[in-house]
Amino acid sequence: MKKLIVGNWKMNPSTGEEARRLAQEVKKIATKSRDKVVICPPTIFLREISGMIKKSKVALGAQDVFWEEKGSFTGSISPIMLKNNGVSFVIIGHSERRTLGESDEVVKKKLRGALKGGLIPILCVGEKERDTHGYYLATVKRQLEGAFFGISGNVAAKVIIAYEPVWAVGNKSFSSANPSEALEMAIFIRKTLADFYGSKRGSSFAVLYGGSVTKETASDYLVHDAVDGLLVGRESLKASSFSEIVNFRKK
Ligand code: PGA
Repeated sequence: MKKLIVGNWKMNPSTGEEARRLAQEVKKIATKSRDKVVICPPTIFLREISGMIKKSKVALGAQDVFWEEKGSFTGSISPIMLKNNGVSFVIIGHSERRTLGESDEVVKKKLRGALKGGLIPILCVGEKERDTHGYYLATVKRQLEGAFFGISGNVAAKVIIAYEPVWAVGNKSFSSANPSEALEMAIFIRKTLADFYGSKRGSSFAVLYGGSVTKETASDYLVHDAVDGLLVGRESLKASSFSEIVNFRKK
């Protein structure tokens, strides 16, 4: 089964020249991969990178989107603008945005907007901390309920879920959920979605893991069928590390 490897560049790099160089390297890296590679550069670089990776194996994603099509929304970018600039994926509800105040309600609107605009959303969910009572499961369930509320099954099926425990995202010592925790959560997410949409549809949702993935740990997650891919942050900025992650099968 093909995996999906997504590089979230976050607010990096600082110059267009560096962004072009990295995109060029990823383009080369992806040529030999049997899996699907997506890069999510900052909005300002999307248009140019879109031109560079046309006819390559790399697809383009954005890190955020607004829900309306157009209008008086200073500073916002609409789904249609992304789509018209070669973007096919969009990260929604990343924990770094939720920390800045993005609520479940806003995440829901963005998810709907992205779907309506023909983008493939990568919806991030994850708990702030792990407790021994299993409250973290309730957090993830609440986030899923909030995001998918009112979205019909056949539309919802396009959404990719990224399980990103907040405590692992950007963790300074690269401490991450271990593969069995990620696996357990992927199963829990599909089970929760099965409660909304039935077991057949629920079990076919794509679930990624993200949070301090490195070239050393990537394949530990990817060997599991239940993990459909990875959302990689800092390690996607280093071409040599990202290359090993994207080409994990050759290891
Ligand atoms: P990280 O980020 O790999 O740097 O922890 C993951 C993410 O933010 O998606």
